[in-house]
Parts: sequence; C-alpha cells; structure tokens
Amino acid sequence: MSSPAADRRETPEGVAYFIDKKPDPADFLADVLAGLSKSSKSVPPKFFYDETGSHLFNKICETPEYYVTRTEVALLETYGAEISRLAGPSRAVIEYGCGSSLKINALLNCLTDPAEYLAIDISKKHLLQTAEDIAGTHPTIRVGAVCADFSRDLDLPRTVGEGGRRLAFFPGSTIGNQAPEEAEQFLKIVRKTVGHDGSLLIGVDLEKDSKILNAAYNDKDGHTASFNLNLLHRIRSELLGKLNMSQFRHDAFFNERLHRVEMHLVSLCDQEISVGGQTFHFANQETIHTENSYKYTVDRFTDLAMSAGFRITETWIDPDCLFSIHYLEVYGG
Ligand code: AVJ
Repeated sequence: MSSPAADRRETPEGVAYFIDKKPDPADFLADVLAGLSKSSKSVPPKFFYDETGSHLFNKICETPEYYVTRTEVALLETYGAEISRLAGPSRAVIEYGCGSSLKINALLNCLTDPAEYLAIDISKKHLLQTAEDIAGTHPTIRVGAVCADFSRDLDLPRTVGEGGRRLAFFPGSTIGNQAPEEAEQFLKIVRKTVGHDGSLLIGVDLEKDSKILNAAYNDKDGHTASFNLNLLHRIRSELLGKLNMSQFRHDAFFNERLHRVEMHLVSLCDQEISVGGQTFHFANQETIHTENSYKYTVDRFTDLAMSAGFRITETWIDPDCLFSIHYLEVYGG
C-alpha cells in the first residue's frame, strides 16, 4: 500500500489524501495486442475513456436518444429523501469510477452529513479534478482519491470510512459492462469492501424495447460512433498503430438473446493493420467487439445481487421503466 504522504505534492487543495496506484499505462498496448490476437477480436471498453473519449461520452449523455444519464439523475433527485432515510447519517461514500459529478453531487446533497467521499478512477486527471470539485463544494466532507483500475485492484486504504459506515456508489449502469458472472464477482468484492454494515447504491439499466436501445447507441449526431471510433484514434496516436480510420465503421445493436447491447468496429474491407510490430488481418465485415452493455430486469438483477451476498432493500424506477436504482445491504449484516 502506498503512503498518502508520498503523493502530497500532487494532492489538490482541500483533498485529504491521494493515493496513486499507478494503473499500468502499458496495459493499453498489451490488452490491444491480446484482444486483436483472439479469433473474435475485442478490446476492453475501459480504453474508451481518454480525454477525448470522456468528452464524447459527455456528449452522448446529452443526446435525446441516450436516456441513461438523465433518467438516473432524475431518479436520484426525485428519491433523494428516501435514499437519505435508508442510508442514515455520516456515511463514507466510495464511488467506483467517478463519472459525471452531477450524480455524486446529487447523492452527497441528499445524504445527511456525509462524513467522507472517496473517488476511485483510472484516469488521474479526471479523478483529481472530481476530488477537488467535491472538496470545494462540500467543505465539511473529508475527500480522498485513489487512482486505480478498480476492475483489477480493489484494495482501499484502511482509513477509508473510519468516520462512518461505508456506502459504495456505482452509478451509470457501469455494472453492465461486465458479463453477469464477472458482475457477481465484482459485487462480492464490493460487499467485502463495504463490510458487514455497509451498503451499495447502484444504477442498473433495464431491458426494454430494442428500438429504444438501438437508438440510444446509434444517436443521430454520431457521438456514439465517434466515441467508438476514438479507440482506433488512440491505437494510432498512442500505440503508433498503422490503420486507416475510414476503413472501419461503428456498429451497435441489442442482442436480445444475451440481454446486451454490443458495440463493434466493423472492417469495411479485407485489410491488415499493424500495432506494436504485429500485423492483424481483417476479413471484410469482420469486427472488433469493443463493448457489452448488459441490460437487466429487476428479477435478474435481484438474483445477481443475492448471489453476491446482498439483499435489495429498495428499488426505484422511472415512470417509463427505462432505468433502475437499487439500494443494497449486505445480507445478514
Ligand atoms: C458508461 C458503460 C454505462 O454502456 O451505456 C454509452 C457506455 N457506450 N454509449 C453504456 C456507452 C456507448 C455506457 N456505460
């Protein structure tokens, strides 16, 4: 475990501690090479989020088609008082992947005297910015930041939440990026992290009419397409990959059988690209699978939560049944 003091120079104004676990920057190359070597080519979606990708994701959130973010924020605002009543006072909030500060602000504003906020994110710049913003707007909360890849490394500083029961916050349906078996493993780790008296507030996108889902991942203005294609930009600029951007197109569709939206980059011709000294062949129409976004029914999510050792205390859903937020407590805690 790294010492908070070692990173004091980098710790922004108002932030109590910053721990940099230095998620390995070489992972991008290794993961791209491994993913392109598979018979079904794929690259993990976490690599979408460089500065450009994060900017494009914010654009997606503003499109009329992508209902996810605005519906979740509205749920947090509408049911803030109920969430607060369930959570009780003086909680230590741990956010896995700090996305838009709209959501964490909505949560911190509804809770009674939150004691602590810990942001965990793979992108150091975004993480420190969020931590500084929250410290600035919530001066009574002890704010900490951990730069880590939470899909691999979930060890937290022992001091987190000394002042209050832990409440994990995992909004945005980010859980949907993982297949249900991986999601269960992740939730089990979260359960251990929050401890026997801890809880989890999680946003989960609901399965719905495929027209709505297909539109949400194919917005008219093309922000989702740019977001997907940005992965190829990164491979070119950061990994010095040799490829022609115009020979790929964005594709996204709801796979009903597997309950997930899939995003792909489709090769528009028979071609070869090279990355890190290796050459990869693409047949015409062959794809790189870049993301899964699993959709749940309340029943399927309830089963998942139970298998991970949680019970659902409360579920909130918008009137159009687009999105759900669940308050989970550790089973037997
Ligand atoms: C941030 C993973 C929840 O799956 O809906 C948005 C990412 N991809 N449009 C999602 C995303 C394409 C988003 N998550």
